[in-house]
Formats: sequence, structure tokens, C-alpha cells
Amino acid sequence: MTNPLQVSPEPLLALALRKLLVLVLIAYSGAIGAADKSPNSELPSTVTYSDHIAPILRDHCIDCHRPGQIAPMSLTTYAEVRPWAKAIRKEVAAKRMPPFHASGPLGRFSNDLRLTDKTIKLINRWVDAGVPRGDLRNAPPLPIADSGWSLGEPDLVIDFPEYRVGGKDRDENVYRFAPFKFPHDVWVRTIDFSPRDNRVIHHASIYFTEPGDVVPETPTTGLFHQFNFNTLDRIWHTWGPGMQPHAGYQGAARLIEKGARIGALFHYAPMEEEAIDRTSVGIYFANGKINKSVGILNFIADDLKIPPYAHAYSLAKEAPIPDGIEITHFWVHMHLRGRSSKYIFHYPDGTDEVVLDVPNYNMDWQPMYYLKDSIKAVPNSTAECISVWDNSADNPQNPDPSQTIRFGVRTQDEMGGGIIFYLKDRAPEECVSVVNGIAQ
Ligand code: HEC
Repeated sequence: MTNPLQVSPEPLLALALRKLLVLVLIAYSGAIGAADKSPNSELPSTVTYSDHIAPILRDHCIDCHRPGQIAPMSLTTYAEVRPWAKAIRKEVAAKRMPPFHASGPLGRFSNDLRLTDKTIKLINRWVDAGVPRGDLRNAPPLPIADSGWSLGEPDLVIDFPEYRVGGKDRDENVYRFAPFKFPHDVWVRTIDFSPRDNRVIHHASIYFTEPGDVVPETPTTGLFHQFNFNTLDRIWHTWGPGMQPHAGYQGAARLIEKGARIGALFHYAPMEEEAIDRTSVGIYFANGKINKSVGILNFIADDLKIPPYAHAYSLAKEAPIPDGIEITHFWVHMHLRGRSSKYIFHYPDGTDEVVLDVPNYNMDWQPMYYLKDSIKAVPNSTAECISVWDNSADNPQNPDPSQTIRFGVRTQDEMGGGIIFYLKDRAPEECVSVVNGIAQ
């Protein structure tokens, strides 16, 4: 079969404007490593931390395993890694670490951290050999900005007011808006989200307002329908612990208009202790020629109605793929009953293609799936997002299988579907030249 997708020839420097939606997730696939037939003899005879293991940890682990991130321990030095060597071997062999939940071949998504079988064997050999250190001068430097912002110091940091969270019975969904107002129009390449304390927020969807939007000045609970604007259209990004920021796409930016505010729907899950949420959002201004706009296709399954004890209730949402767009990333979202999720593209010649398959959804992991090579729309094709939930007693996460479940923001309600993010060329008269976010 000919591949109906024309993959764009220029990998778009693999960077995306992250904008997203309501919650995010991750599912557990029995992650498939790359088919790698290399015999052990192809491995180096001496495997050392400095020459072999440190680069693997840098590229696949320390986004989360470093101070201030979500993992329980830091893996940035030999001294830190050594006591964890056996646990590392076990977790990588079982393909629980690094977490990534889409199935399919390695290398399709730019944030696919999975290890090849050869790399797993290398780690194994290193542990068998008694975790040799090597010459630490050869260990790679860590590419982490000291500021804690992985993309470097933002052009603008907007602080949300402090908010007290936590407590066992607290499962809160709160809209909060930062008091800051943009003093003039600005073109934004990407944003990053820093909760400072990674324990406090389950996930957050981040919005910018537009002129005429009315926002609450105090924390407000409920669903997005209460506002006089459609928050779904305004979503820029959905953040979850462990999610790394995306630098944005070449030539793509969004205009934040004078007077705009930034807000987010914060989901705080129950937590033993109380804590203070001190979230900041880092804003990165665009530079250069802006010749692409950013858009979303919405597949949110807000009409779901899951019967009690249903093992595999499924709901599909379909939308035409607009001509001329290039698809950059996918997001799917469910809660505790989420079982699996996939996107299928249907082509006019009658063929179908699964473009994202998350066979074992797990709400604890909330990634965005960034395509390494964007997908150019085939005219007259459609996209379908299929969500499957398990409301049976066999689902260990299910709080109560006897309930009929509907769409809602609380953890015990459900969500489904997802969002496709895309870029589209701007008409020549809509292109702008931008310096530090300001149109020239
Ligand atoms: C996206 C974030 C993320 C990445 C990337 C990641 N980890 Fe983890 N890791 C976690 C979190 C969170 C936990 C604790 C929760 C859990 O076990 O699921 C964890 C747990 C572990 C544990 C078990 C700790 C224990 O208490 O037994 C090991 C070992 C581990 N990771 C190793 C690795 C290695 C090695 C890599 C890279 C090859 C890696 N992780 C990549 C987030 C991550």
C-alpha cells in the first residue's frame, strides 16, 4: 500500500508550540523497543558510567530524575546513580522506565524516550560488571539550565497568586487567572509551566484571554461552559508532571493581544499534606518571520455515558482534516477508567491509518505526543479519535463500578477524546516580521 501520508521533507526542527487542553495522560504500553537483533558481542567489552551510562541517563532519564522534578530520586551523578543501579536495570528491562505509552516503532515521536534493546543490554552488562565508574572527566555535561527553566530563562515570567492546596479529601478543579495584563500585543513562540513544587498539581490547562473575555478574579470551580468564552479554543498547553516544554515550531507563533490575561484550570488531586502552589508561567517571545498559524482540532468526548460494570465502553469522535494543515502533535485524555485511546486517519481512497495508538492508558502519565516529522493533510480525509473505558471491577483504579459515569472535571468523573494540534501557512499578507515578540 502506498503511504497516503506525505511526511513533510523538512523535519520541523522538532519543536512545538505547546498548547493543550484539559488534562493529559499517559498510558502504559508494553512499550515496544526497537527491533534490535544485535548480539551481545557488539556491546563494548567494558561498559562504564562515564562513557556509556551517563549519556543514556542524560538523554532518557534526567528530565524527571533531577532535583525539583517528579521522580523520587536524582540520577545526575555517579554517586547518585550507583545505589540505584539494580533498580535501574529492573525498571528498564521491564520497560516501565522511561515511561512512554504509545505503541509502534521508536523514533516517530520527538519526545519518545524509549530505549533500544541494545541500550537495555548495555545497562545490564554495566550492572553485571559491578557498575564501573570510568573516567568521570568523560561524562557528558548536563544540559539543564540552572534557572530550572529547561528552555532557558524566559523573556517574561508571570506568577500566579499563591494558593493553598492538599489535604486527603481535596480533589479540586479551579480556574485561576494571574493579575498580570499584557501591556501591548506580543507574538509568543512557546510557554513553559513551572509549578515549583511538582507534587501539588495533577495537571493544568493554560489559557490566554482575548479582548472582551470576562474572567473571575477569585479562584472559581466548575466546568469551562460557565465562561462567556470557549476556553477550549483558548487552550495553549496542558501541563502534567514530567512533561517537558517544547521550544515551538520554526515560523509559528500566536498573537497575545494587549490587555490579555493568562489563566489555567488547575487540577489538584488529593494529597496527604497541605502545600502552597506557587506556579509561574514562562513566556518565550517569537523572533523572525511568522508565516504559520497554530490551530487545534477538538475531539473532546463530552457526551460520554459509561454504563455500570462496562468492560470496554468506547466512543469515537470524528472531524474532517482541513486542507493545507500539517499535524504536529496529539493529545489524548481520560481519567481513572481510561483503558486505551487511538487516532485513526481515514483517506479518500478508503484506506485507514492509525497515527497514534495508546493501548494501555494510565492517567498518572500525561504526555503530549510530538511527531518528529509533521503530517501533511491529505485532502478530503478525516480524523477519528477512539476512547475506550473500563468501568468494571477488574479495573483496579475504578473507584466505583456500579455508577453510570458522565463527563466531568473531577477525578471520579470521566473525560475522553483529545486534541490534534496543527500548523497552517499564513497568507502572504498575514505574515509578520517579529523582533522580541513585537511586530515590526
Ligand atoms: C517522565 C518522567 C520520567 C522519566 C523520563 C524517567 N523516569 Fe524513572 N521514575 C519517574 C517517576 C515519577 C518514578 C516514581 C513513580 C513510579 O515508580 O512510577 C520513577 C521511578 C523510577 C525507578 C524506581 C524507583 C524506585 O523507587 O524503585 C527507577 C529505577 C527509575 N525510575 C529509573 C529511570 C531510568 C533509568 C530512566 C531513564 C532510562 C527513567 N527512570 C526515566 C519518572 C521518570
